[in-house]
Amino acid sequence: MSASKINVAKQAMEFIRDKLTSSMIIGIGTGSTVNCFIDELGESSHLFKGAVSSSNASSKLLKSKGIEVFSLNDVNGIDFYIDGADEVDKNNNLIKGGGAAHTREKIVAAAAKDFVCIVDKSKLVNELGSFPLPIEVIPESRSLVARKIVSLGGVPKLRVGTRTDQDNEILDVTGLDLSNPLEIEKKLNSIAGVVDNGVFSINKPTKVLVSKV
Ligand code: A5P
Repeated sequence: MSASKINVAKQAMEFIRDKLTSSMIIGIGTGSTVNCFIDELGESSHLFKGAVSSSNASSKLLKSKGIEVFSLNDVNGIDFYIDGADEVDKNNNLIKGGGAAHTREKIVAAAAKDFVCIVDKSKLVNELGSFPLPIEVIPESRSLVARKIVSLGGVPKLRVGTRTDQDNEILDVTGLDLSNPLEIEKKLNSIAGVVDNGVFSINKPTKVLVSKV
């Protein structure tokens, strides 16, 4: 665990600690930065009701810390969603999905009142697009989606050996024009066979915390 990830995880814990209530459900993302946050959260598990998780990996870790994990279907709302990112631009648009979890991450983010994104400085960019954009696709539609992406100027590459928690595949895409994140997020999701893409513009963070070390 890197010092920067631990630093920003502690910042997030400080941010939410005095807002926790015994009935509160917290949304939890996926990845190495969030794993540091789950470590922090475990020490305060008596201060809130439980969590909704964005991945099987995070659910397992949450349970190991004694935090009850709820289905999104069984909760009325989520106050805070805490998650990392692969890139953050100056308008808080994100690329996510490096860990193939962006579809459920976006769903939990959409359900939350506040999305607190936690990153180290290396994730900050002027414009999205250096990190290959992950797109979750239904396996049967992989070639069709890939051709459509090529027609948009992108270069898709299958993430070999990876299946998502939903048993779908991931195309990592370079070369797309991401200068209008909102537009490209919608355009990619309109391709038949795309489950969701890793641009977070519709559900971008309400707050971004950056490591101080
Ligand atoms: C998971 O699919 C991703 O969206 C992660 O949230 C993102 O890759 C950040 O992960 P790290 O905190 O491990 O860099």
